[in-house]
Amino acid sequence: MKAITIKEPGGPEVLEWTEVDDPAPATGEVVIDVVATALNGADVAQRLGLYPVPPGASPYPGLEVSGRISALGEGVSGWQVGQEVCALLTGGGYAQKVAVPAGQLLAVPKGVGLVEAAALPEAAATVWSNVVMTARLAEGETFLVHGGAGGVGTMALQIAKALGARVVTTVSGADKTARVRELGAEVTIDYRGEDFADFGPYDVILDVIGGQYLERNVQSLALDGRLVIIGMQGGFEGRLDLVELVFKRKSVFGTTLRSRSGEQKAEIVAALQEHVWPMIEAGAVRPIIDQVLPMSQAARAHQLMADSQHVGKILLVNE
Ligand SMILES: NC(=O)c1ccc[n+]([C@@H]2O[C@H](COP(=O)([O-])OP(=O)(O)OC[C@H]3O[C@@H](n4cnc5c(N)ncnc54)[C@H](OP(=O)(O)O)[C@@H]3O)[C@@H](O)[C@H]2O)c1
Repeated sequence: MKAITIKEPGGPEVLEWTEVDDPAPATGEVVIDVVATALNGADVAQRLGLYPVPPGASPYPGLEVSGRISALGEGVSGWQVGQEVCALLTGGGYAQKVAVPAGQLLAVPKGVGLVEAAALPEAAATVWSNVVMTARLAEGETFLVHGGAGGVGTMALQIAKALGARVVTTVSGADKTARVRELGAEVTIDYRGEDFADFGPYDVILDVIGGQYLERNVQSLALDGRLVIIGMQGGFEGRLDLVELVFKRKSVFGTTLRSRSGEQKAEIVAALQEHVWPMIEAGAVRPIIDQVLPMSQAARAHQLMADSQHVGKILLVNE
């Protein structure tokens, strides 16, 4: 098969469409003939040499795919060869084939095309695991997501709205502001000229910025508020005011999806199937796709991600 390999750490040009060995399914795994994959921040970090591949994971980038099952490993039940699926991966999605534990497979939701389904697993798993399983966002609470126009952000807006939260987001520019409003943001804050701290308090914040926003994020939380940090685009360090944390019973979490165990990923995937897939099938949540490029143009797709003009996800398809 072919896969996108990383020649050496560097810019998008180090991504190469290369002939490599086919994967074989280990016990409990299936092999998927990949129809599409989607870009994630972790792929960029891996390309730059800043994100070591977790032990046992495929060396190729790609944390989610859609496609058709082409082989079943020993001990797999409930799935058939030829079945259309999407999957949460620990790596290896930028390829023609990928092996994945059966616990990380999802049915393609009704009403969603097979290519589009590649946009769902990583963003939905990130949002559900952090916003619901960790931060326990409840109906009627105020939720702030930073970067509402991004791949994670567009999913977070929709899921939070479907849960009955009041949704607030940071976003840049008039066009993206209009898009995030369509997706459920009641309050939009243009982070280039406005300060989200002036629009709080927030019960739950999902943060992709990290250090630069830490102090203001904590200040902006309501009593008993929960901050979950999943990205560090704004630096690795910040000031944490413990008086705010202790006396206002605020919590700060940091998590990564990719390094979670297979058992934890399977638990999250089962929760998606139970709670988020019905939201998708009811039309309350949908995959938001900015562009679809051929897999061989992964370098161009990474450049688009760096340019940050996109809304939602950038997909790569096998031709
Ligand atoms: N820990 C985990 O498990 C996990 C899982 C998935 C993703 N992530 C991380 O989450 C982040 C977002 O991922 P993604 O796939 O959604 O990437 P993306 O599509 O590139 O989105 C990035 C978003 O960040 C926004 N942004 C940039 N600077 C900002 C600022 N100063 N204030 C507010 N927003 C700002 C951008 O907003 P504009 O477009 O409006 O400029 C953009 O919408 C990445 O850092 C990724 O690594 C972590």
